[in-house]
Amino acid sequence: MTMLWIKIFHLFAVIAWFAGIFYLPRLFVYHAMTEDEVGRERFKVMERKLLRGIMTPSAIVAIVLGTWLWLGYGFTGAWLYLKLGLVGVLLVYHGWCMKVVSDFRQDKNVHSHKFYRWMNELPVFLLLGILILVELKPFM
Ligand code: HEM
Repeated sequence: MTMLWIKIFHLFAVIAWFAGIFYLPRLFVYHAMTEDEVGRERFKVMERKLLRGIMTPSAIVAIVLGTWLWLGYGFTGAWLYLKLGLVGVLLVYHGWCMKVVSDFRQDKNVHSHKFYRWMNELPVFLLLGILILVELKPFM
């Protein structure tokens, strides 16, 4: 029973994390297209609050509770290690988002809105891959 509660909060944190993972690069798209100073300053605030207020805390909770589930259930198997690999890629993506937020804050963005549109697609595949691995556990 307790483990099911942990799972609920694991999923809650994962969903909150992904809200940001999907939306922050969208903000980068619009930010990269913005010409005026007032608009740029507004995006800087939105990006910082989404990253620090939602994404990073949710990522930490998702990982702590995921580790709890792992040890609590005593799961092993290739599906789990593959999932952790994809979580690792997701963390690299999160780190890249932090770098971009910092570049924009210093008005040092070098990428086009098209670049950010493409980068926005990447986590879609990561999420789909992770869902397939946890639900089907295809490689025991
Ligand atoms: C260190 C990080 C993580 C670890 C160790 C971990 C581990 C686990 C474990 C052991 C379960 C229980 C599986 C089961 O009951 O069959 C679980 C459930 C789940 N995890 Fe994670 N997780 C982590 C991060 C994530 C992330 C980042 C995502 C999404 C992108 C995610 C998505 C899910 C989902 C969707 C379930 C639900 C499975 C079900 O419906 O029963 N996890 N996780």
